[in-house]
Amino acid sequence: MSRSKIQIILVLASVSLVALLSAQLVWLTKAYSVEEKAFNHRVQVALTTVSDQLLATVGGSTSAQKPIKQIASNYYLAELNAPIDPAQAERLLQQELGRRNLQEAYEFGLYNSLDDTLMFGKYVPATQRKLATTPPAVVRHEEGQAPKLYNMAVVFPNKTSVILGEMEFWWYSTGALLLVVLFFAYTMFQILREKRLAELKTDFINNLTHELQTPITNIGLASEVLRKRPETLSPDRLSRYHDLIYSENERLRAQVERVLQMATMESRELVLKKETVDVHALLKETSQNLAPRLQQRAGQLRLNLQATQPLVHADSLHVANALYSLLDNAEKYSPQVPDIEITTQDVAQGILISVRDSGIGIKQEFQKFLFDKFYRVPTGNVHNVKGFGLGLSYVKAIMDAHHGHVTVESAEQQGTCFNLVLPN
Ligand SMILES: Nc1ncnc2c1ncn2[C@@H]1O[C@H](COP(=O)(O)OP(=O)(O)OP(=O)(O)O)[C@@H](O)[C@H]1O
Ligand SMILES: [Mg+2]
Repeated sequence: MSRSKIQIILVLASVSLVALLSAQLVWLTKAYSVEEKAFNHRVQVALTTVSDQLLATVGGSTSAQKPIKQIASNYYLAELNAPIDPAQAERLLQQELGRRNLQEAYEFGLYNSLDDTLMFGKYVPATQRKLATTPPAVVRHEEGQAPKLYNMAVVFPNKTSVILGEMEFWWYSTGALLLVVLFFAYTMFQILREKRLAELKTDFINNLTHELQTPITNIGLASEVLRKRPETLSPDRLSRYHDLIYSENERLRAQVERVLQMATMESRELVLKKETVDVHALLKETSQNLAPRLQQRAGQLRLNLQATQPLVHADSLHVANALYSLLDNAEKYSPQVPDIEITTQDVAQGILISVRDSGIGIKQEFQKFLFDKFYRVPTGNVHNVKGFGLGLSYVKAIMDAHHGHVTVESAEQQGTCFNLVLPN
């Protein structure tokens, strides 16, 4: 799948998911308001019935002239202005609400209609209404006095949660939709990851083909000359051709070995042959291997070995390869005269080895990919410096296997420093 195709799919799918989510949100709010209206209606009817019955007992006007007011979303007021009996009001309310299947907790109060003071108040819990744990009622009216005129108020403190609880179906459908969104996001993430890996692998194969072709061509040309006209060649040229074939063959062997090594590392667990290794000795030896390349470019490598505990328990071959990989990079990615410094230091976890160069450096945005297999910092279509993008992933694998770690510090055009920590 091409990149633009993936982008189109991503955009279309995201747009449709956003549309679906918005539709769900609109339906959710509509469903809530319908449920709320139904709730209000049930409460209004129940309170009207209670008011009618109360007013009938005291012989006042009917509730038709005194409709139920909704003061707030969960607060209902019947302005009865009548000398009603609190006990009767409470009983009737309980009965009417129960009849309309309103089993939620509510607070019931009677207010003095003259000065709005609370004269009787009671909290009635949800379904356990009949339980003895009901809190005591607030009673302020004095027995035996002339009956006062009351207004009746009812509050449903948990109205919102009750309505939300009744919208069960909507929660299931919203949950299902969110699952679809999550699944989609995960799938897209995987596709993009696979796509990136596929691109890296294509680059790798192109690199590999190119890298293998050069020595094969050189060996082919040299052996062709040797085969056709060996007698016309001076001993000096003859030995030059032999040397060329030998060195190109060595290059080929080293490259094939590296690729095979990475391939086998992928298929099975890395087996380490641990022994006591002197990191300082290993560093001196490994930097010797780089010396010919540095000499050719008049470069320099400085060793600043300050650690007092250079002995570690490690696989010397793998650690040496990893160190060489860092030195190889430091030389490869220094377009000017290479200037490399290796430092060691004691740290709490073991020994810290830093390989610093003053080469091209690496932009911050690319640094997090460096240790991925096949990754090479993009430099447009042309890579002046050849490589497979395997070196640093190998370094990371080796450090992980030793329970150490590797980090990078770098600034573009200023140089790079790789820090390895190996436990003692
Ligand atoms: N010292 C460095 N300075 C600047 N860039 C670096 C340095 N080391 C690594 N890089 C960048 O990180 C990339 C990955 O490095 P890595 O060693 O894994 O692969 P490579 O050098 O390209 O190939 P290989 O090591 O397999 O031959 C390189 O392609 C390069 O872009
Ligand atoms: Mg490398």
